[in-house]
Formats: sequence, structure tokens, C-alpha cells
Amino acid sequence: MSQPAGLRPSPPCAIVIFGAAGDLTKRKLLPAIYNLKVAGLLPRQLAIVGVTRKEKSHEQFREEQSKDIREFATRSVDDGLWKEIGDALYCQAGEFTDPATYSKLGALLKDVARVHATGGSVLFYLATPPDFFGGIVKRLGEAGLTGQSDDAWRRVVIEKPFGRDFDSARALNAELRAVLDESQIYRIDHYLGKETVQNIMVFRFANGLFEPVWNRRYVDHVQIMVAETVGVEDRGNYYEKAGVLRDMVQNHMFQLLNLVAMEPPTSFQADAVRDEKVKVLKAIRSMKPEEVLKQAVRGQYGPGVIGGQPVAGYRSEPKVAPDSNTETYAALALQVENWRWAGVPFYLRSGKRLGRRDTEIMIQFRRPPLLLFGQREGQIDPNRLVLHIQPDEGIEIQMKAKHPGPTMELNTVKLQFSYKEFGETSAATGYERLLYDSMVGDSTLFHRADMVEEAWRIATPILDVWASVTPRDFPNYAAGSWGPAAADALMGQVGRHWWLPT
Ligand SMILES: NC(=O)c1ccc[n+]([C@@H]2O[C@H](COP(=O)([O-])OP(=O)(O)OC[C@H]3O[C@@H](n4cnc5c(N)ncnc54)[C@H](OP(=O)(O)O)[C@@H]3O)[C@@H](O)[C@H]2O)c1
Repeated sequence: MSQPAGLRPSPPCAIVIFGAAGDLTKRKLLPAIYNLKVAGLLPRQLAIVGVTRKEKSHEQFREEQSKDIREFATRSVDDGLWKEIGDALYCQAGEFTDPATYSKLGALLKDVARVHATGGSVLFYLATPPDFFGGIVKRLGEAGLTGQSDDAWRRVVIEKPFGRDFDSARALNAELRAVLDESQIYRIDHYLGKETVQNIMVFRFANGLFEPVWNRRYVDHVQIMVAETVGVEDRGNYYEKAGVLRDMVQNHMFQLLNLVAMEPPTSFQADAVRDEKVKVLKAIRSMKPEEVLKQAVRGQYGPGVIGGQPVAGYRSEPKVAPDSNTETYAALALQVENWRWAGVPFYLRSGKRLGRRDTEIMIQFRRPPLLLFGQREGQIDPNRLVLHIQPDEGIEIQMKAKHPGPTMELNTVKLQFSYKEFGETSAATGYERLLYDSMVGDSTLFHRADMVEEAWRIATPILDVWASVTPRDFPNYAAGSWGPAAADALMGQVGRHWWLPT
């Protein structure tokens, strides 16, 4: 893998990973760091410090990571390249809640800055359970580890989930801002590291073809779908407190909506882009309780069949209450009330144990004004533009063409672009770009405080109604189906239907 055109290695720094013995570190962060190394995007002057609870020597930590990388890397590991990373690994043991952890970390950072000539810049990555985010930042501040100078920056990457409703997100923002400047905070959303997600902006703003039709005059409605075939797996403890609206819709799906609906930014500077994104969220009104009942549908999977195999219902999954009311499916109809989109509904749906794993955005255009070819109303399929996010990344335009032959028979044909044929896409974790951006100080793809709060402002009234009204019909969809009947009715009442991937 050669160094991507126009990109240089990030500046010298130390990366400190809190939660270095955790799942995220071994599955994503270390493999992403290795991929950046392969791409020539890491500086030579780099040190990586893992903060773990268990006391271990640097050597022990290196051996553990060396074993893990061989299991979790997304490509085969070159011993020479890995050794350069391995030699720069250090371990700092300590509890997140213990001030002594931070004073020892400060001393270690001074040492590694000298040995590796990192210049004193540090990226703190909080790969920890979310309850610790605020406390770690507070103690970093108290230990004097967040102060910047002209030559040395200090940044903090915060993992998801960022709060669990509007009030907790606001409180967390306040805790972070008591110590850090907003420009030091990188709230990560790994969805925004995906190639096809980044490509939505390129598709829209580097091509003149689509912009003229990207509005209420030509677009009938937009559907955004994140469908999973997996159930809750072993994450029952976490999922019981989250549900799909918190886990998927409020963060990732609202970001997808932003990218589709935002105005062209005046530049590709981080705040120019984020200003436009937050304006989209501001244009979505909070639902009143009676609107929640009409515009939002929740569901929970029961037993069913996936890939020919019988699977259990949510309430029989490990670490899930047998009478759980947690939603594993949500469908929303949202209105972006601005000049471009007024009257164009954005339908979002996401669920676990659905018929197929698929993430995509479908933009449905209005049908032609006259039916010239003998079709009747309802027989003509409108044009659709489909942005496939996963598993097969690509873009597709569906249009009508005459079927060859003596009669005027119309068929739907596809113009397709597949990422697979365009370049290497497989050997990545989705964290490479985001890690690199946080090291070079580009926060374009990260959430800003106001974006997070606006997203929770929209989601919280829905969560409140769902928490106060017991769902009487759970489980209301079979594993392997496409969700509850009420979600079909949400579309059916306005003469539309969910678009199923072909
Ligand atoms: N895993 C993923 O793929 C993924 C994906 C997206 C986002 N995230 C987010 O990333 C964060 C980390 O996820 P994860 O799956 O890696 O979590 P995890 O496996 O639970 O790891 C967290 C780590 O924090 C350590 N820890 C917990 N309490 C501590 C304390 N008081 N003092 C010192 N260390 C402590 C644990 O150490 P011990 O090992 O000693 O218990 C553990 O290694 C979470 O916010 C999660 O929501 C994870």
C-alpha cells in the first residue's frame, strides 16, 4: 500500500490509549495504526502508551499487542514494520479514577517524548466505557496534561456513545469544556470513516450533475436504512440500556441524513462543513408526544429464521430481561423544514435481525409529469439514486429503458458504480482516516458539541414517549423479516412503501 497522493505522515506525537486492554483497541485501533504505518502516514517520532488496569511491564504489553495484531490485523503483518510500532509501545497501569495514574502517566510521557522525539504533542484516545469520559478528562486537566503550547498540541478523542439523552450529552459537553477547548475535542463516529460515507460529499459537491435536482422540486422522498442480520450477540448488558434509537439512529443515521441534506459548505474547512451539518439538524423540529405516536415506530424481534437457521427472539438472548421493552427496530418519518427540503420526508429505519445486512440511502425522484408510454398511474417506477454504504459500497441510478422488441415495454435498468472495481477497500478498519485526521488536527469528520446536542434534541422526545408508554405488542416482528407491520403502515398511510434493496 503506497502513501495516498497528497497525504504526508502526521506530525510527531504520542498516542495514549485509555482502555488499551479492551476490545476496541485490539480489534480496531491497533490494526488501524498498523494500516497507517503501512500507508506511510505515521511519523517516525511516535510513541504509543496503553493505559491498562492490570500492572504489566512494557515488554509484556508489547508481546500481548504483537500477538493481538496477528489475530486482528486486516492484512498480513510485516515483522519489520510491526517492530517499529512494537518498539514504541509502552504500558501505564492504573485505575482511571486514581489521580496517581495521571501523575505517573505525565512522567512516562516526558520520558517517551525524549526517547522518541515526539515534541510533547499527545493524542489521548478514550477507548473506555462511556461513564469514564468526563472523569478522565477532568483528571488529565488536574494533572496538567491538557495544556498546549505553540509547539505541542493536546487532543482528546471521545468514543461513542456521547450521552444517552439531551441532558446527559449537555452535561458531558460541559464537563469536557471545563477542561478543554472545543478544538481539542474529537468526538468520533466511525461511520464517518467509511469510504462511501465520505464519498457522499464528493458525489454531491464535486459533480455539477446532481445539484440542480437535489431539492424539493425533484425529490419525492429519501429513505435511509441500516439493516442488520445479527441480533444483540453478547452485548445484551449494553443494548438493554441503549436500544436502536440510541445505538444507531441518533448518531450514525442522523449523520447520513446530514450528508444528504446539507447545503454546500463555503469551503472544506472543518467548521464550514460542520456549520452546514448542524443547520440540517436545527431544521428538524422536535416531535410532540402525539406526533411520536404517528411518525415513529418501534419494534423488537421475536424468534425467526436467518440464513435458513432458526434464531432466538430478543427476550431469550443472553443478558436480556425476559420481559424487556428495549427496541431493536425503529422507523422515523422526519421533516427537514428548510427552503431546500420543505415537504420532502426523510424516512429512517434500522433494525437488528432483519432480512438482509444492508446500509443504504435511497433518493426517490418525482415521476415524470406525463405518462406517455401507455402506463397507468402507479405502474411507472420513479428514478432512484441509491448510495450503497455496506456491505457492497457503490452508487446506483435506476432508470427506465425500452425493452428490446416490437412493443413499447419499459424496464428498470441500473447505472452502477462499485467501489470494489475502483480501488482497494478491504484492508481497513474504518478508523484509519479518523485517527490520521485527529493526529493532523482535522476535525471535519468529528462531531462538534452543538451537533451532538441537536441530534439528542430530536431523539429525546421520542425516547421519552417510548419510555412512558409500554409497548404492548413486543415482540412485533419475526427475526429474518423486514420489521413490524406498523412500520409498513407508516409508509402506507401516505401511499409510499419501504424500498427493498435488490
Ligand atoms: N468494541 C468496539 O468495536 C467498539 C465500537 C465502537 C465504539 N466502541 C466504544 O469504545 C469504547 C470502548 O469499547 P470496548 O469495547 O473496548 O470496551 P471494553 O472492552 O469494555 O474496554 C474498556 C477497557 O477499559 C478498562 N477499564 C474499565 N474500567 C476501568 C478503570 N476503572 N480503570 C482502568 N481501566 C478500566 C477495561 O479494563 P479491564 O480489561 O482491566 O477490565 C477495558 O479493557 C466504548 O465507549 C464503546 O462504546 C467500541
